[in-house]
This record gives sequence, C-alpha cells and structure tokens, in this order.
Amino acid sequence: MNPLAFGSLFILTLVVSAQTETPKKQQSPKQERYEFKKEHDPYGTGKFYLSREIAQVMSYEGAGWLERPEREREEQVSKLMPALEVKAGHVVADFGAGSGFHTMKLSKLVGDKGKVYAVDIQPQMLDILGKRLRKDNIKNVVLVQNNEKEAKLPDGKLDMILMVDVYHELSYPYEVTEQLVKALKPGGRLVFVEFRLEDKKVPILDVHRMSIKQVMKEMEPFKDMRHAKTLNHLPWQHVIIFEKVEAKKE
Ligand SMILES: C[S@@+](CC[C@H](N)C(=O)[O-])C[C@H]1O[C@@H](n2cnc3c(N)ncnc32)[C@H](O)[C@@H]1O
Repeated sequence: MNPLAFGSLFILTLVVSAQTETPKKQQSPKQERYEFKKEHDPYGTGKFYLSREIAQVMSYEGAGWLERPEREREEQVSKLMPALEVKAGHVVADFGAGSGFHTMKLSKLVGDKGKVYAVDIQPQMLDILGKRLRKDNIKNVVLVQNNEKEAKLPDGKLDMILMVDVYHELSYPYEVTEQLVKALKPGGRLVFVEFRLEDKKVPILDVHRMSIKQVMKEMEPFKDMRHAKTLNHLPWQHVIIFEKVEAKKE
C-alpha cells in the first residue's frame, strides 16, 4: 500500500518580546513564522509555512514502500543520480534518508575517499539502513539521527545535500534549511526532489507534493543560495537545484 497515496488508510505518524515602546514611531508586530489552523488536510499537521501546510512525517512502518520494486517504473529513480553530478571523493548528505534507497547509490558514487551523511529523524529508519550497510560492509556512510530543529551536519563541508520527498515533511523548514545552507561548501548544492503539485495525475497526497513556485518562495530568504536549475526529466517529481554563492553585501 502506498502510504502517501490518495485514500490510503495507512497510519502516518507525526514524529513528531517584549516589544520595546517607541514614543513616536509605532513598531509593526513581530510576524510569526508558522501559523496553526484547526481546519486542515487530514494528512497534514495543521501547521502552515508561507501558506503551505506541512505534511505528517511518513512513518518507518512505510519503509517497504520506499523499497518497492515498482519504484523504478513509477519514478524512474535510476535517472536521478546521473543528474546530480556527484563525483568520487565528494562529501554529500542524504537528508531524510529513510531506509537508504538513495544513500546506497550515493555511497557507490562518492567511493572510498568520499563520505555520505545519512540523516533521519526516525531511529527506526536508521536501524534499517544500518543493517544494510553492515550486510554490504559499507564504510563510507555516517548515520546521523537529527531532531526537528537541528540538521546535525558539520558546517562548510558538504558538496551536495539531497532531499528526496522530504522537505515538505520538515516541521521547521526555515530553521533546518538555514542549517543546511551553513553545512554546504561555497559552490555546494541543495537538491529538492518533490512530487509535482502542479500535475494532478501524480498519485500522491496533496500535502506530500510541492509546486516549483512554493519551493522558490521558501528559498527566497536564503540569500546565499542561487537557483541553478530545475530538471523535469522524472515522471512524478521536479528536481530543483540551488547552489551556494557568496551573498552580496548590502
Ligand atoms: C517519504 S520518506 C523519503 C525517504 C528517502 N528520501 C527516499 O526517497 O527513499 C521521508 C523521510 O524524511 C524523514 N524526515 C522527516 N522529517 C525530517 C526531519 N525534520 N529531519 C530529518 N528527516 C526527516 C522521515 O523520517 C522519512 O524517513
């Protein structure tokens, strides 16, 4: 059963100023970053960021869906890696790695001199991946359990951070993205792979999809990140790539 599909009954678990008085000039009230609504999508969290409802985290109980044999036919996953231009010796992260579907491929691409940080908020996902790594005697993957507000990656060390079907689940997208940007080297890339909200034929729940416009809107505050390209070669997902540049001094 597809845990992210329409009508699925699969249980998705949620992993879950004092204002200084100015005598003459009135200060505008502090904008809250997140908004909470009682009425919302049943698969969403009721927490909104820039008008987008944040999705519930896909439970580790759905890990089998991530490894399903039909994934190649449906998502053409084999076309993703070549588009990422990962090279031997690169230090990369599979952020929201899940059961490690992409971690395993990245590990081969970066080779013995490279490193893959496989980060996930659910320890059960990392346990599944850890077993695979031990079975195949893979030594270049570091497992990292993070939390809602912390990416737990080293600063300034990464050539690329990949998020496949993850960003829309982040409960603190602004705070986590800020740390992901810090973790990149100059020239490093942040890659969003998200199910297309624009295409109603993609059989995935609305809260688990994102439009290009929304991704661009959410990346707008990060002045060190430049939109490099958007690839549309996958049947269900966009691949939206940002590159770290020096922000212009105001
Ligand atoms: C739909 S799964 C995708 C897994 C994997 N990227 C793949 O394509 O096979 C989303 C994953 O993101 C993880 N996740 C959700 N919120 C997270 C967060 N704040 N930090 C790290 N991982 C998170 C979930 O635990 C889950 O494993």
